[in-house]
Amino acid sequence: MKNSFFTRTELLGIIGSPVKQSFSPFIHNIAAELTGTQIIYLPFDVHATNLKSAVNGMVALGIKGFNVTLPHKIKVVEYLSKVSEEAAIVGAVNTIVNDLGKLTGYNTDVHGILETLNPFKDEIGGSCVTVFGAGGGSRAVLYTLIRHFKPSQINLLNRTGQHSEYLKQYFKDKMKYKSISTIELFSPEMTDAVKNSKLIINTTSVGMYPDVDDSILNNDDLFRKDQIVFDLVYNPIKTKLLQLAETNGAIALNGLTMLIHQAAKSFSLWTNKEFPVEKVYKSVLLYLSR
Ligand code: ATR
Repeated sequence: MKNSFFTRTELLGIIGSPVKQSFSPFIHNIAAELTGTQIIYLPFDVHATNLKSAVNGMVALGIKGFNVTLPHKIKVVEYLSKVSEEAAIVGAVNTIVNDLGKLTGYNTDVHGILETLNPFKDEIGGSCVTVFGAGGGSRAVLYTLIRHFKPSQINLLNRTGQHSEYLKQYFKDKMKYKSISTIELFSPEMTDAVKNSKLIINTTSVGMYPDVDDSILNNDDLFRKDQIVFDLVYNPIKTKLLQLAETNGAIALNGLTMLIHQAAKSFSLWTNKEFPVEKVYKSVLLYLSR
């Protein structure tokens, strides 16, 4: 390999803890190879106490960009020069671009969610949606729904009621959306909420590898043919929840489309290059199905 490869190669990475389960290094390094882009993307396990130093180190070392994952997506905002309008409203950043020491934060999860749900825009608009979870993924989902799909009603269910109550108030204040109802998880109202919804979204980690037999909903007969079920979990591709949805004839949307499209947006922000969505999708699919 020529010396110029090393002297001209830019570094990208992901900071989080734990980070070893992340698919982002695989995705971005494949995209770099497919597009002939001279970047290397590495995972960095950064403990919460080192977050500020890691971000300062990014400037000191001239690292072109970072993805940000758990548990730093909210806290990292404090250390940036600027955040996009979207990321500011969502209140979480998953992508940082370093432009000569000026750090801008973005939330490309929003783009991934939008790409996943856009084919069903007409069905979702004006209808009822049920969302499970009240973490970072849920914030991006709620923002995208309110901003781009305008549902008539959002039912929000979470293990810790305080977290869903917080988000209900948060989106009322930030986006003037008053139609979020918080419902207790596993209460009798939960069944009605799901039955009355056009779209059901799981943003919790329930059902994620290795707990593949878990599902936030377990009843065999809960879903109908005219419903859409979206699970942000992408490993496994077909979660137990999505299997239940398909058994009942509902449309099942897995988390892989969101994963690839959020990566695509981040990659373009860093490199100004088009991301080979289809080819990367196939590579990840192949990897996950092994
Ligand atoms: P992310 O950024 O991926 O959304 P997060 O911010 O840690 O991750 O949020 C995880 C979500 O999954 C939370 O809503 C969490 O519920 P709590 O607010 O009660 O912590 C939910 N979650 C995680 N494990 C769960 C479980 N075993 N049962 C139900 N909900 C769970």
